[in-house]
Amino acid sequence: RIELKVDSVLALMTIDEKIGQLVQYSGKWNATGPSTSERDQYKYNKLKKGEVGSMLNVASVASIRETQRIVMENSRLKIPLIFAYDVIHGYKTIFPIPLGESASWDLDIIEQSAAIAAKEASASGLNWTFAPMIDVSRDARWGRVMEGSGEDTYLTTKIGVARIKGFQGDDLSATHTIAACAKHFAGYGFGEAGRDYNTVNIGEYELHNTILPPFKAAAEAGVATFMNAFNDIDGIPATGHRHLQRDLLKNEWNWPGLMVSDWGSIGEMIAHGYAKDLKHASEIAINAGSDMDMESYAYEASLKTLIEVGKVSIDVINDAVRRVLRIKFQLGLFDDPYKYCDTEREKTEIYSKENLEIARDVAKKSIVLLKNDNQVLPLSKDIKSIAVIGPLADDKNAPLGNWRAEGDYNSAVSLLEGVKQAVSKSTTIHYEKGIELTIPTVKPGENQFLIPLEFNTTDRSGIKKAVEAAKKAEVVLLAIGEDAYQTGEGRSQVDIGFKGLQLELLEAIQKVNKNIVIVLMNGRPMDLTRASEVASTILECWHLGSESGNAIADVIFGDYNPSGKLPVSFPHHVGQEPLYYNQKNTGRPHGSKQVTYSAYRDAPRFALYPFGHGLSYTTFKYDNLTLDKTEIKATDSINVSVSITNAGDTDGEEVVQLYIRDLVGSLVRPIKELKGFKKLMIKAGETKTVTFTINAETLQFYTANKKWEVEPGAFEVWVGGSSVATLQKGFSVVE
Ligand code: IFM
Repeated sequence: RIELKVDSVLALMTIDEKIGQLVQYSGKWNATGPSTSERDQYKYNKLKKGEVGSMLNVASVASIRETQRIVMENSRLKIPLIFAYDVIHGYKTIFPIPLGESASWDLDIIEQSAAIAAKEASASGLNWTFAPMIDVSRDARWGRVMEGSGEDTYLTTKIGVARIKGFQGDDLSATHTIAACAKHFAGYGFGEAGRDYNTVNIGEYELHNTILPPFKAAAEAGVATFMNAFNDIDGIPATGHRHLQRDLLKNEWNWPGLMVSDWGSIGEMIAHGYAKDLKHASEIAINAGSDMDMESYAYEASLKTLIEVGKVSIDVINDAVRRVLRIKFQLGLFDDPYKYCDTEREKTEIYSKENLEIARDVAKKSIVLLKNDNQVLPLSKDIKSIAVIGPLADDKNAPLGNWRAEGDYNSAVSLLEGVKQAVSKSTTIHYEKGIELTIPTVKPGENQFLIPLEFNTTDRSGIKKAVEAAKKAEVVLLAIGEDAYQTGEGRSQVDIGFKGLQLELLEAIQKVNKNIVIVLMNGRPMDLTRASEVASTILECWHLGSESGNAIADVIFGDYNPSGKLPVSFPHHVGQEPLYYNQKNTGRPHGSKQVTYSAYRDAPRFALYPFGHGLSYTTFKYDNLTLDKTEIKATDSINVSVSITNAGDTDGEEVVQLYIRDLVGSLVRPIKELKGFKKLMIKAGETKTVTFTINAETLQFYTANKKWEVEPGAFEVWVGGSSVATLQKGFSVVE
């Protein structure tokens, strides 16, 4: 039925109106009337003529209603706008950054957090989020590593689908759901040297085996939209990549959704050296399958001429317009363009107590206990004295992370506040900031993209007081790491260690108090080598969102036993980047007397904290790895079971992970690949059995035949609590 409606609208449209539907503008629209700036005036006139399909960055019921009204009251066909926004990890109730949330390995809560983000965003009038980012990202230098699910294709796929389900629910027309966007298609996470927007040089097999599977799964899960990417892949800008967008996604995968360009990425094909001018860029982009032009002003300027001279066919335009109209029908905007403009919902459903409680739950489940050598954690709530130190200890802004949508500046619960809430009245808390991290940081209303961060490397005046506080306390909680704006778009770094004077502060404190718990707040894998030598305990707390301090206190004082596992490898040194567990073996993997094998002479080859790693306050023992068969045909399956015992005296959750290796392939296969995981609660003293099924879906890969298939031969399988699991068995696939 929707298709008939789409066609009936399409039949009424002029060329200008059609091209207009392919245009997306940004605007922090003023609800009381359009701005008088020349650019805004231009946009306003285009809206009146019905020559805009979508707006981004207009948020709030008042602004959206007003902007929609311009179209509904002035345009000929009254085709409603669709409103988009970067709702990446919450709308006003802020959840952990996606990388942090991925450390929960808990698909239910990830789906739930996306559902709440959708509920809040839609209560504010929005229809469409530019999330999830499902770029596999293996280089910690890249700032946008914070926005994805880490280095692994399987984990990224599962989490991506969970987020899409959360945003879209099972009915896009419901008032609490919004359209999701699988981005960035494709390869954006593989920019050379971790530099944002940089060129991507990967082979066809890497593309199919590592990068594309999350996108294929997103398309199959019914994601409403895709966004293409800024980068080129092997010389072809993703925005102009016909093979990826049209041949593969739209034709082979038969995906009916809408492809939006990234901001200005159509025009940027000129800078890439791929298009002569804006007109040429439009021709390439629309023919390649980029349906909507976000802020390049390319389509509106040139598509009409390109159609007239026969460089772009009307069929291509109609196909793109259909995709826009389809979503508008699916969202129910044609029935009621103001459907999502409900001031009552806006008042009651955003930043509610209930949403904040769930944000706290998600946040505590995202924390990873990296190291707890002397079992300093958990602390008793009756501890006599505790020092809370560090530039991030009472920071209410950094924990919101980058891409915090409408999250209010300084609205997170700080670590200090969380600790104060948790401890008993008799506990003395000594708080000292010690040092500033940045000078200055981004303030409310400022455009973060215009503020390159600088770090404090000279002002040590607070260190002495911090040391005095540490001397007086039984335990020091030292909150260090990264500012919110050290990660995110355009925030690549060559140094992934502690900026400024943070290590100096750590070392000064360590001289007077050995019970240091590093409470790490960050948006990327960091170089923790020195910190790990100095501190016996490290708690990875990412940027955890609105309820950060409360969630951290839940873990520190043992109300919640940490269960997070790393979705990325933490290196010994930045020089190892890109670093990922599922690397290939190389022809010279092992040491010999000679130096001629694949390693570094001044650092280890593998991670300091590996993918999948995360400790608990209890210990899990893995045993009895059994395979119900040792030989199968490619169409059969094997059940792999293992028993896990909680050998401590605290109940806890464990993420049981399944890895396989295909020993010989028509292409070189990774040394280990995640192929399954289950998160389960195991009570103290209890043993549980977990069973995984290995089948063709688990074993197949994009082979030298350019097909997804299972190749006969020997496989190894591991089950354990991290990617360095040692419990291992073998089996074979026979013809
Ligand atoms: O959604 C983002 C994208 O990920 C990066 N460039 C800007 C877009 C819209 O804000």
